[in-house]
Amino acid sequence: MMKLAIVLFLAVIGVSLASSDDGPITAKTIQKVGANAYVYNPLLLGTNGTQKSEGGSRQQRMLGQWPALAGQGVSQTVFTLEPCAMRPAHVHPRATGLLYLISGAKFMVGYVTEDGAPVNNEISTGTSALFPIGLVHYQQNLDCFDATYIISYNHEDPGTQMTYASLQQLPASAMAATLGVNTTGYETLLSASPKGVFIKSSDPDCVARCQLAPAKSGATVSAASVSG
Ligand SMILES: *[C@@H]1O[C@H](CO)[C@@H](O)[C@H](O)[C@H]1NC(C)=O
Ligand SMILES: *[C@@H]1O[C@H](CO)[C@@H](O)[C@H](O)[C@H]1NC(C)=O
Repeated sequence: MMKLAIVLFLAVIGVSLASSDDGPITAKTIQKVGANAYVYNPLLLGTNGTQKSEGGSRQQRMLGQWPALAGQGVSQTVFTLEPCAMRPAHVHPRATGLLYLISGAKFMVGYVTEDGAPVNNEISTGTSALFPIGLVHYQQNLDCFDATYIISYNHEDPGTQMTYASLQQLPASAMAATLGVNTTGYETLLSASPKGVFIKSSDPDCVARCQLAPAKSGATVSAASVSG
């Protein structure tokens, strides 16, 4: 217990000191902050860092969680996506993402090029997939088992803009015109729009094939949700 308390204390001290120095990591830096500031084990922190939501969970290893990343230009998030769930369309304004599928099948990854070409692929365990900076993209698990994957970013704070939640912040008349519906129709769309970090039961064929309970909308999330 004492040993764990000391480890926790050192982890917290190391992490907080590391944030004060975002230059090159030198012998002096290590002397100051300790070698353990440069590993991130969420199990040693107060919580294990897992954010569980409807449809999946994620563990972020970004500047906000791990100050030693300051100035290094890299970060990661580890995801679990439940059967038939998806990570809805979003954009990282500051980073390209590189996904590695640790475990999964019938796993859809896609983005749209800046001039409107769709780039959709079905991947399975051991495949990597690229999401270029600033382009709208998604992931969807069409298998009946959890998918686990990691995405690395070439920025310590990639930022995440959820696409549909962001569009909903524009004036209703402008959005109704954009979608070619009247404001009543737009209100109906808004009331039905899922708002979670993930969307559970995102594909009816998958839900039927995997014999899952049908969709329900998730918890609320703001347009500028936390990165990942
Ligand atoms: C982390 O905590 C969550 C929620 O308390 C739990 O469901 C999960 O199993 C834990 N993960 C690990 C790796 O301990
Ligand atoms: C809005 O559009 C719907 C579907 O086209 C139509 O049924 C409805 O009458 C329209 N409502 C108004 C107020 O124009």
